[in-house]
Amino acid sequence: MGAAAPPAGERELRGLRILITGATAGLGRVAAIELARRGAHLMLAGRDPGRTEAARAVVAAAAASAAGPAPETLAVDLGSQASIRAAVAEVRTRWQRIDVLISNAGVYSPQRKVTVDGLEETFAVNVVAPFLMTELLLPALQAAAPSRAITTSSNRHRGGKLHWDDLQLERGHGGIAAYNQSKLAVNLLVREAARRHAGSGVSFHAVHPGAIATEIYRDLPWLVRKLIPVFTRTAAGGAAPLVHVASLPELPPSGTYWNRLRPETASAAARDDAAAARLWDVVKGLAGL
Ligand SMILES: NC(=O)c1ccc[n+]([C@@H]2O[C@H](COP(=O)([O-])OP(=O)(O)OC[C@H]3O[C@@H](n4cnc5c(N)ncnc54)[C@H](OP(=O)(O)O)[C@@H]3O)[C@@H](O)[C@H]2O)c1
Repeated sequence: MGAAAPPAGERELRGLRILITGATAGLGRVAAIELARRGAHLMLAGRDPGRTEAARAVVAAAAASAAGPAPETLAVDLGSQASIRAAVAEVRTRWQRIDVLISNAGVYSPQRKVTVDGLEETFAVNVVAPFLMTELLLPALQAAAPSRAITTSSNRHRGGKLHWDDLQLERGHGGIAAYNQSKLAVNLLVREAARRHAGSGVSFHAVHPGAIATEIYRDLPWLVRKLIPVFTRTAAGGAAPLVHVASLPELPPSGTYWNRLRPETASAAARDDAAAARLWDVVKGLAGL
C-alpha cells in the first residue's frame, strides 16, 4: 500500500523530515500517526523509553501502511537543558535537514515543580524548551528551507499575564496562572522568532489545537476529569490543526497564531512587540544561549 493522496488543498509529505516532541501521548501521538500515514519521515521525541517505544510501534505501523520510512526516536527530557542539548547533538548526527519541527510537548501542573535547571516546570517545558530546541535546530531547518517551526500554543494565552518580576512564580504559583503565562510566552516568542529570523527561509507558527481530552488534565480533581470529555474534542480533533499547518502548501506570514485550522488575531498582550523582544532576551538568558 502507498501513502494516501494528500487531502485536497494539502501538500505531499512523502520525503519530508518531521521532528515532533510530545509524541508519546495526546494529540502529538495522533499527529505523528497521521503524518506517517501520509508518508513523512518522523522523529519521535520522548522522555520515557517505554512510552517512546510504544509510540514508535504505532507510528511504524502507520508508516508501513503508507510504504513510508520507518520512524526514528529521540530521547529527550524537555525539563533538562542538558538533555535538550544532547538530543540536538544526536539529531545533528542523523538528520542534516528538518522540514518541519513540531514543538508540541507541554505540561499543566497545579503544584509548583522545579526542574534540574532551577526553573518552574511549566515555564521550562512549555516555553524554554521549544525556544532552545528551535534555536539550536535552526541550521537544520534552514538547510531544508522553506521549512516550518510549529509550536503548540493555547487559546488560554488570552488569560495569560507575564509576571515580569517573578516569571518562575516563586511568590505566587497557581497551575492556571503558570499555564496561561506559558502559552502567552509561546505566542510572543513565535512572533519574535518570525521577526528575528525573517529571511531565514523558516516560517514560525503558534497553533491552538482546541480543547482536547488528553492526559494533560491528569492532575485536575476527579469530578472535573469526568466532565472534560463532555466539553472537549478527541485527540484526533486536536492533532488535525498541527497536521494542517504542517501540510498546507502555502502558509500565511511567519509569526501567525492559529485557532485550530484558521489564522486568528492573538490577544493584544500576545501582539506586544516590545514585550516579545524583552521576553526573547530573558528566555535566551535562561536557556544559556
Ligand atoms: N489538551 C488540551 O485541551 C490542550 C489545549 C490547548 C493546548 N494544548 C497543548 O497541546 C500540547 C499537547 O498536550 P496534550 O493535551 O496532548 O497533553 P498530554 O496528553 O499530557 O501529552 C503531553 C506530551 O508532552 C510530553 N512531555 C511532557 N513533559 C515532558 C518532558 N519534560 N520531556 C519530554 N516530553 C514531555 C508528554 O510525554 P510523556 O508521555 O512522557 O508524559 C506527552 O507526550 C501541549 O503543549 C498542551 O499545552 C492542549
